[in-house]
Amino acid sequence: MLTTLPPAIEYLRKRMVVEPLRLDTRSTPNRPLGLSPAQASAAISWGQANFDEPFGSLSPRDRVLLYAYWNQKRHLEELSEAFRQLFGHGRPKQSMIIVDLGCGPFTGGLALAGQLGPEEEFEYIGVDRSKTMLEFGKQLAAEAHDNDELPSIAHHWVISISDIDWREAPGWRPVVIIVSFLLASQSLDVKKLIGELHSLLARLSRGEATVIYTNSVKEDPNRNFPTFRDALLSIGFRLQTDEIGGIQAVQKEYKLRYALFHRNSQRILRLGGD
Ligand SMILES: C[S@@+](CC[C@H](N)C(=O)[O-])C[C@H]1O[C@@H](n2cnc3c(N)ncnc32)[C@H](O)[C@@H]1O
Repeated sequence: MLTTLPPAIEYLRKRMVVEPLRLDTRSTPNRPLGLSPAQASAAISWGQANFDEPFGSLSPRDRVLLYAYWNQKRHLEELSEAFRQLFGHGRPKQSMIIVDLGCGPFTGGLALAGQLGPEEEFEYIGVDRSKTMLEFGKQLAAEAHDNDELPSIAHHWVISISDIDWREAPGWRPVVIIVSFLLASQSLDVKKLIGELHSLLARLSRGEATVIYTNSVKEDPNRNFPTFRDALLSIGFRLQTDEIGGIQAVQKEYKLRYALFHRNSQRILRLGGD
């Protein structure tokens, strides 16, 4: 099936990413900021760059915009397709909590917003080590929230899971954790990440939790997947899917590695036991 982004998301990208780059005085037709695809690719480094550092004459903000222009669309398409399949035939009754680990510029939130109607709402927590990514993600989320065609979105932005200031008592809201193209990061301690996620889930909700993992099909970016998978299994998740799939986008077809983990609601009954 052909995957396309909803018009409201295309419009938002045009207004916030494509037009600002087109209007930049350094840009020429087909060369945002005057850079060839190879030069832009060096500045982005497949999303693994330190986006808070300048790169030559490029500012951190330039690098984030280049990421959003060159890389984010593909990840939006992948996650849109994942959410279409997950929620196309019905969605949770309670408002979902979304935890997007290595969120970049609000990628998982935008993809979900495009799949839910304006009558829906969700709460989004974006976690990314780059302040510049978070800042731009926050701007995109504010624009999406103000768009009448998209859901109402409460959003939070933090550099690490331990910084999440969650005041609500844990109820039964479903939690969706997105891990899109994060595991290649050299700076990531996967066991620590899942340990922190475990503590966070205890604070957020006793409801069901789902982890969506997407990545390149190449071996090296997935080198940490076995550690990631085993750490999730050790905290009660079940592996539902671990496959290589294809996305048929308008301009081309591309492959991705994806996995889905699920954990049931944490309902416990202990009659006379501990
Ligand atoms: C390839 S990008 C993916 C962004 C987004 N998930 C997407 O699909 O568009 C990887 C992101 O992870 C962030 N990142 C890398 N290492 C990280 C870490 N140890 N903790 C949190 N974020 C990290 C980077 O700053 C970058 O925004």
